[in-house]
Amino acid sequence: MQVLLADHAGFCFGVQRALDLVEDEVKQKQCVATYGPLIHNPQVVERLARQGVKVYDDLQDRTPARLVIRSHGVGPEVYQEAKERDFPVIDATCPFVKKVQTLAQRFTQKGYQVVIAGDRNHPEVQGILAWSDGKAFVVANGEEAATLKLQGKVALIAQTTLKEATLREIEQALRAQPVELELRNTICAATGNRQKAARQLVNEVDVMVVIGGRNSSNTVKLAQICRDTGVPTYHIEEAAELEPEWFTGKQKAGVTAGASTPRWIIEEVIQRMTELNQEKETEFQAQTQESA
Ligand code: F3S
Repeated sequence: MQVLLADHAGFCFGVQRALDLVEDEVKQKQCVATYGPLIHNPQVVERLARQGVKVYDDLQDRTPARLVIRSHGVGPEVYQEAKERDFPVIDATCPFVKKVQTLAQRFTQKGYQVVIAGDRNHPEVQGILAWSDGKAFVVANGEEAATLKLQGKVALIAQTTLKEATLREIEQALRAQPVELELRNTICAATGNRQKAARQLVNEVDVMVVIGGRNSSNTVKLAQICRDTGVPTYHIEEAAELEPEWFTGKQKAGVTAGASTPRWIIEEVIQRMTELNQEKETEFQAQTQESA
């Protein structure tokens, strides 16, 4: 069985940068805490915990530490509180997310009604909303956008991981209203590239393994894209979850991984798949010799 890795898989630029910043601090023997789990990947979070990195969900009564803001970003109130409580901030907000936050702030200051296309429960969207002073509307799809009663100057911005088609739906629903619309397409290419590469690869293989946190929405989305093609698809977090029977009779297996999956986990999975394949071949040869 051949094992093929998607052209774009695993850590995106923003997540890699965030992890590098934390590891730099750890190397300098600093007391480090991340504001919320650094990324949606339990194995990486556990590894950081073993290196002494704490996770703070708030700053009340916490041991002072260098506070890492994760790639999803946060609202201005968190920077303010960190300053008041004397927590030095290491800002790992992805520069692409930072850009959306700045747009939300500037458009609000200029008197625009800001509309954020995205998932209101996602930390990135909550952070962007806070930069609009809580004044922006958040809509997840065209239907929700159609229920807004808007007029005058409106600015539409998007969660970086949103699907392009959803942004277009929302744009259309807003253009149907008496508004002067400014659209900024702030969707990041990393998600689209991973999805495109997964779509290409799944068509070439007869089984697909998708690696990433079960709480990582972009990994869940990748697995869904692969499953929708009818090719058997398995979403795993680590190599130990691989089952030999998934690969029985398969010629080609594809591997992809969400934007919060590190290279070492991808390598372990590929290594384990190769071992399972060798074990199967050895077993097959032994059976053939026996029956000869
Ligand atoms: Fe940044 Fe795009 Fe990753 S916004 S965190 S590079 S998915």
